[in-house]
This record gives sequence, structure tokens and C-alpha cells, in this order.
Amino acid sequence: MASVGFIFGVLLLCANLFTPSSCNGHASPGRLPENHQALFIFGDSLFDPGNNNYINCGISNQANFTPYGETFFNYPTVRFCDGRLVPDFIAEFAKLPLIPAFLLPGLNEFTNGVNFASGGAGALVETHPGTINLEMQLSYFLKVAKSLREELGDAEAKKLLMRAVYLFSIGGNDYHNVNSSTPQSYKRQYVGMVIGNITTALREIYEVGGRKFGFQNAGPLGCLPAGLKQSNGDCVQEKSAVGKLHNIALSKALQKLEGQLQGFKYSIFDYYTSLYLLTNYPSKYGFKQGKIACCGSGPYRGVNSCGGKRGVKQYHLCSNTSEHVWFDFAHTTETANRHLAQLMWSGPPEVTAPYNVKALFEML
Ligand SMILES: *[C@@H]1O[C@H](CO)[C@@H](O)[C@H](O)[C@H]1NC(C)=O
Ligand SMILES: *[C@@H]1O[C@H](CO)[C@@H](O)[C@H](O)[C@H]1NC(C)=O
Ligand SMILES: *[C@@H]1O[C@H](CO)[C@@H](O)[C@H](O)[C@H]1NC(C)=O
Repeated sequence: MASVGFIFGVLLLCANLFTPSSCNGHASPGRLPENHQALFIFGDSLFDPGNNNYINCGISNQANFTPYGETFFNYPTVRFCDGRLVPDFIAEFAKLPLIPAFLLPGLNEFTNGVNFASGGAGALVETHPGTINLEMQLSYFLKVAKSLREELGDAEAKKLLMRAVYLFSIGGNDYHNVNSSTPQSYKRQYVGMVIGNITTALREIYEVGGRKFGFQNAGPLGCLPAGLKQSNGDCVQEKSAVGKLHNIALSKALQKLEGQLQGFKYSIFDYYTSLYLLTNYPSKYGFKQGKIACCGSGPYRGVNSCGGKRGVKQYHLCSNTSEHVWFDFAHTTETANRHLAQLMWSGPPEVTAPYNVKALFEML
């Protein structure tokens, strides 16, 4: 019985992968279904499915120990979460399998897309050295595009790259050393550099065929358990301000690209506002606790100690992650991620605009 179940499971898995050739690891030209769409993912810890397991990025950017992963995967997958992340849900909604980490050893099948995100990463090279910055993620993507051309032929690869959706969560980490005493002019200059690097990456992806770009904007940094005013749990507006500045600039930059690059389409999910609402009005969305994280130490578990491996050994762990918006000092629970992913996928224009990600997938 067990082996029949296993074979049946394998068949189902292959059916899910869309491409019949995925099971023997080799796709021949013209074999992709007409409506096949891939998902390529770039970003930071909010999107990293485990790339950091394969690099030397320092323990504070690492989540390869329990209780990370405990509620969905039952083992630490190196996701900064108890379970799945937003892109895992987006893949599910798009009827794709889980999109693997690019650095996963032996990975050579990219027709469904691949994930380049790295916990701690930024759009600037100086941000958290040792992580995979945006420029490196882009160079990995260009390798994948080349490998797809070799595998599928130029025309089929171009079609795949044009139909694919490119999902981003990047920029939040670049502002980690900006604070209330940072001069406004310096903040603006900083935002300009971050947006400049993002724009460069988008142009290069467009160059090889990319047309459909989905962004999660920068969150309210002053509302993270690590950013809250530790005396009373209020969000610290000055810490969130640079995120706001970034988001206005991102919105302008994407609008400008849409005007310059023919066929360029984008979606911005307002992660900032969505997370602000979850944190401040948790019960409205089915959560018991919007500010105190499930795992960590300090009054709001805002200390980066979940798992006890990052210097601080003592930490608290909640009994039911679904009651919490936050899993650790800066990352939301799987239950919150599902909620956020639904807004990104099919949210109304007040939340996700000018298109939502579902609409991007529906464009051929
Ligand atoms: C603010 O950030 C600067 C670096 O940007 C740093 O030198 C300074 O110590 C920080 N101030 C506070 C209060 O954290
Ligand atoms: C991004 O900015 C850094 C400065 O931090 C620069 O060295 C790097 O080359 C830029 N990368 C891209 C892709 O623009
Ligand atoms: C965990 O919390 C959620 C949300 O409050 C609730 O629906 C669920 O029943 C709880 N699970 C357990 C095992 O208590």
C-alpha cells in the first residue's frame, strides 16, 4: 500500500509541474504547454526559501534550526518563518509547485522558475556583506536565462521569459542603519541609490524578455517587534518614515519604466499598509496578538534570539503560531503570510495596483 501511495504521489507531483518532461529532468523544444508561466523570485528574508543555507552569511541571517519551519514543513527549511512564505502561496495560487532555492544542490530544472532571494540581502552591495545582493541575484538569473535558451531553444526560452512573473521583496534591509537622527537629505540620497539599483536590475531582466513585475513594497520598519517602542509597543513613526519615502520613489520609478519600456507591466502590493493594519488591528483579521511575536525574547520578542542560536540562548516560543501576526523579531507567521499573499494575488486596487499578481498571470 505504501509504495502504491508513493507512486501515485509522484504522478500527482509531475502533473502539477505542468511539463510532462519534468519527471525525467529534460524538456525538449516546444514541449511547454501554451499557457505555461514561470515564477522568478528575487529578494530578502521575506522571500528566501533556503539560499542562505549554502552561503557563509553569518548566523544572524541564518534560520536553519528549529523552531523555524516547525508548523508546515516539520523541519527548518531556512525560511524565516514557522511555515510558508508569501511566494510559496503565490506559487500555489498560480498552480505551480513550490519554487526552489537557486542554490539547492543539483537543481537544473528552471521551467517553472526559481528563487534567488537571500535573507538579509539588499539592493546595495554594502548591505549585510555575505548575503546575495540584488546584483548577484541578477547575475544568477542571467545564468538561468542562458540555461533555458540552451534547453528550450531561443524562441521558446524567450516566450517563457516574457510570460513569466518576476516577484520582488527588496530594499527594506538597505535602511537598517538609518535612524531618527539621519538627516533627511541623506535619506533621500540613500533611497535614490536603492531605487537606482532596482531600476537597473529591472531593465536587465526586461532586456532578456521579462515583462511582468510584482513588487511587495517596504514594510513599516517601526512596527516590527524589533522596531516597536519597547516601553509601550507603539509603532515608531520615524523608523517607518524611510520606508514610506522608499515606497513613493518605487512607485514613481515603476510608473516611469512602464512609460519607457514597451509591454512593461507591474504590480505593487502595499505591504506597508497591510502590515501596519495587521499589527495594530489584529482581531479584525482573526489574530489574537499583533505585536508580541511568537518566538524570541524581550517584551515584544523583538530580540533576534528565536531558536537560541544567535548569541542569546534563552527565548520564548508560543503554543499556537496562528494566533500571532509575527513569528520572530521581523518576520510574520505562515498564517499572516497567507493573508498577505491573498492581498498580493487578488487584492483590490487600494492594496495592489495598478494590477494584482493574479492579473499579471492572466496576461499572456
Ligand atoms: C544613527 O545612525 C548613524 C549612522 O547612520 C549612527 O552613527 C548613529 O549612532 C545612530 N544613532 C542612533 C541614536 O542610533
Ligand atoms: C548598486 O549600488 C552599489 C553601491 O552600493 C554599486 O556598487 C553597485 O554596482 C550597484 N549595482 C547595480 C546593479 O546597479
Ligand atoms: C490556534 O489558533 C487559531 C486562531 O486563533 C485557532 O483557529 C486554532 O483552533 C488554534 N489551534 C489550536 C490547536 O489551539
